[in-house]
Amino acid sequence: MVAEEVERLVGSSDLLGVPPVYVDVGCDHAGLPLTLLHRGALSRAIAVDVHEAPCVLARENARKLGLDLDVRLSDGLDGVDGWVDVVSICGMGSGTAVGVLDAARARIGAAIVQPNDTGETVRRWAAHVGWSVARERGCWDAGRYYGVLVLVPGAAPDAPDALELAWGVRAQRDVDALGARLSAEIQRLEALGKPATLPRLAEQHLAHARRAHPA
Ligand SMILES: C[S@@+](CC[C@H](N)C(=O)[O-])C[C@H]1O[C@@H](n2cnc3c(N)ncnc32)[C@H](O)[C@@H]1O
Repeated sequence: MVAEEVERLVGSSDLLGVPPVYVDVGCDHAGLPLTLLHRGALSRAIAVDVHEAPCVLARENARKLGLDLDVRLSDGLDGVDGWVDVVSICGMGSGTAVGVLDAARARIGAAIVQPNDTGETVRRWAAHVGWSVARERGCWDAGRYYGVLVLVPGAAPDAPDALELAWGVRAQRDVDALGARLSAEIQRLEALGKPATLPRLAEQHLAHARRAHPA
């Protein structure tokens, strides 16, 4: 497990709190739930993966660390019955993450999603099913930007517009990371001779957010 990846995952964990039923879907090495258990941020955790090899690895890592992690072979939340207070879905494509959420959304209290591609799919899904993005945080790892979104059931008072769906400025808690992402996107578009209207508009909204919530 590379150090940067641990940092990225730990970076998302302060959004978690101490939920009674917490499930990490797509656990692979189980770096996130094991870090949370080790820190005492959780008293128990379930880690699931759709493949056997990651489950074996997760159990082995838990054993080495002397931590009690309930590891299950499961497609999404199929292998976990009943209510789930918080589910984390990190390091997958947004389409897969949204599929996992959609299949079980009636029994999820909150979701932490870190898609490997784009947050837009996740924001669009949330708006479509009457969920909302409670907060977002961005981080950079090995030159790549990753967004982390906290989703809760219940529609936002103001329906997100196209700009919000694309860039998620409203709930952003890390304006510097998103600002750097927007600058990179503007540069990319301009180098291609394309208009950068939407990311420029998002930059303006971000500047307002920065003034409203200074660091
Ligand atoms: C790239 S790893 C990410 C591991 C870890 N969550 C992280 O962020 O570092 C993605 C993992 O998700 C698992 N996965 C993909 N689709 C899944 C699904 N529908 N249900 C459970 N696990 C899934 C894969 O087997 C793989 O181990």
